[in-house]
Amino acid sequence: MHSKILILDFGSQVTQLIARRVRDAGVFSEVHPYDVDDEFIRNYGAAGIILSGGPNSVTEGDTPRAPMAVFEAGVPVLGICYGMQTMAEQLGGKVENGHVREFGYAEVRARGHTALFKDINDFTTAEGHGMLKVWMSHGDKVNEMPAGFKLMASTDNCPIAGMADEERRFYAVQFHPEVTHTVQGEAIIGRFVHEICGCKSDWNMPDYISEAVESIRQQVGSDEVILGLSGGVDSSVAAALIHRAIGDQLTCVFVDHGLLRLDEGKMVMDMFSKNLGVKVIHVDATAQFMGHLAGVTDPEAKRKIIGREFVEVFQVESAKLKNAKWLAQGTIYPDVIESAGKGKKGSHTIKSHHNVGGLPDTLNLKLLEPLRELFKDEVRKLGVALGLPHSMVYRHPFPGPGLGVRILGEVKKEFADLLRRADAIFIEELRNTQTEPAPGSNEKAMSWYDATSQAFAVFLPVKSVGVMGDGRTYEYVVALRAVQTQDFMTAHWAHLPHSLLGKVSNRIINEVRGINRVVYDISGKPPATIEWE
Ligand code: XMP
Repeated sequence: MHSKILILDFGSQVTQLIARRVRDAGVFSEVHPYDVDDEFIRNYGAAGIILSGGPNSVTEGDTPRAPMAVFEAGVPVLGICYGMQTMAEQLGGKVENGHVREFGYAEVRARGHTALFKDINDFTTAEGHGMLKVWMSHGDKVNEMPAGFKLMASTDNCPIAGMADEERRFYAVQFHPEVTHTVQGEAIIGRFVHEICGCKSDWNMPDYISEAVESIRQQVGSDEVILGLSGGVDSSVAAALIHRAIGDQLTCVFVDHGLLRLDEGKMVMDMFSKNLGVKVIHVDATAQFMGHLAGVTDPEAKRKIIGREFVEVFQVESAKLKNAKWLAQGTIYPDVIESAGKGKKGSHTIKSHHNVGGLPDTLNLKLLEPLRELFKDEVRKLGVALGLPHSMVYRHPFPGPGLGVRILGEVKKEFADLLRRADAIFIEELRNTQTEPAPGSNEKAMSWYDATSQAFAVFLPVKSVGVMGDGRTYEYVVALRAVQTQDFMTAHWAHLPHSLLGKVSNRIINEVRGINRVVYDISGKPPATIEWE
């Protein structure tokens, strides 16, 4: 049994980062909503509890509070930002509605030689005070500590920027140790989980594989399992893991909708069927998808059709597997946290997302989701540990509707064929071109593929005039898109070198008959999105 850290989420944008930092320290952790009941806290078995930040103000009466059991569980508690404020208020201190908001970089003076900060600092002042470079984001602040607490940190604007009751092992900070801008954040979180909570570093992939294999075997017994393999990282890693656990009891269905990247079908079949010996049914449904997409130009309508047909094909194939009792999906932890938070705040649907995961209940299959506990970077590490090639596991994401949302307007096979080739050239050049970090910088050279988060070509169904040799051409346009992002919610366009763009453009125009113009998309998200549709 792993020791584990419980994180209660008060709605901060960066709560997931807390869990990731804790896991980076080799300790398992989970995020749960702040309003779990006392019983949940008592039964959870946490070695320590972290209270996240959040958008509310504890000075208002009906805002979130931690269950009192958190403070009665006898385990260390770390409050971050709102978590600090609610801890202060719930234990008898006072929080004031801040008049000065503090947002961004700050320097915090460590005080009181607490176990949390001891020997951790970024620099020392002339007077010998240890200082931390941190990231702050708050309006309210604690202005009176509860009984038993001593001052742990302060800034000019925020005299109580950290407090500790070392007897009860309660610690709280106004800044965010979970974000990378807080230079010692990793050290502080590591200190909390290892030394204060006493957790060992026992969360690692090789051990995880044996545990996961065991639990999959127990869950499915001698039943058969089907899995929709998309070639993406999550479904691929799920397939490899389940195959490791139950071998031939797993059948994968790979649906080719005709909107995949160049040679994707062959790549998936080679890797899974030939190399790993996984049973894969390869369905070429291009004609069916193209038929339903004919004449449809509206992006949302296209997405819906692709999603619907996908389910249709999958259903037909799975009905042939009479003994299948389980449907495996590559759901990962951020999806779990996100769907738990759904419905809490009204959000707009910008695009209806289609995933292989969106299969209906009518299949009457039980769900097997072996990656439910893992973050994306952990899924990647797991993939590598399971023997999948690095190039596959570290691929850019590819949307479920595939090239269907990268061919603007009506989707035609002819357009998909041109786009696939242009896209493959772009990706090949990105993989083959190294970045050149400025002399003296500590960045490492890497391929432009690895230096970007997502890159692809988009087909624009407009024709423009060109000249090739002595002849006039009148052909289609391709746009190149390359972005850098942490979370895909916001993104910058990548400043690719002009020489690289030039080479890609030349190659596409020379090698892909039917395209005579290449443009580069320099829009950020927001206001643009990453995909064009
Ligand atoms: P946007 O275009 O909304 O994309 O900025 C953000 C990220 O989501 C991916 N994306 C999808 N992924 N099914 C998916 O599995 C979809 O329907 C879908 N639509 C967009 C997109 O590629 C980018 O990584």
